[in-house]
Amino acid sequence: MTAATTHESRDRPSAEIQDMHHALTSLIEELVAVDTYEDRLHTTTDDDLRSVLANHRDEEKEHACMLLEWIRRRDPEFDGLLRRFLFRADPIARSEPARGDHHQTGEERHLGIGALRGIDRLRRERSGEEISDWVD
Ligand SMILES: [Fe+2]
Repeated sequence: MTAATTHESRDRPSAEIQDMHHALTSLIEELVAVDTYEDRLHTTTDDDLRSVLANHRDEEKEHACMLLEWIRRRDPEFDGLLRRFLFRADPIARSEPARGDHHQTGEERHLGIGALRGIDRLRRERSGEEISDWVD
């Protein structure tokens, strides 16, 4: 392997990393879409439109679940965490903190605020809100 090849491979993410990025950003977009449809169906005055929007919202949930499953199958950390947190009846916050969450406070870790900030940021980007107006 030449130095040029090494340099090129360091600068360009692998196909695996790119695929995971596409899956993660698509998951965020699907969740934002769920939230958008949810907001709209609660403010519409037309029952037929409300039904259409509810149908769309539920389809976005399905898309999000498919992406999450794709991610789970390829990321052992997600796989382990999802197995630990999903489909349980005991209080969610009683689970041990996840490894790799050192940058979050205890409250943020348990509430998933870090993930919600990403979704809120994406929503604001889509709405065209000025970045200088953001308070994170
Ligand atoms: Fe979708």
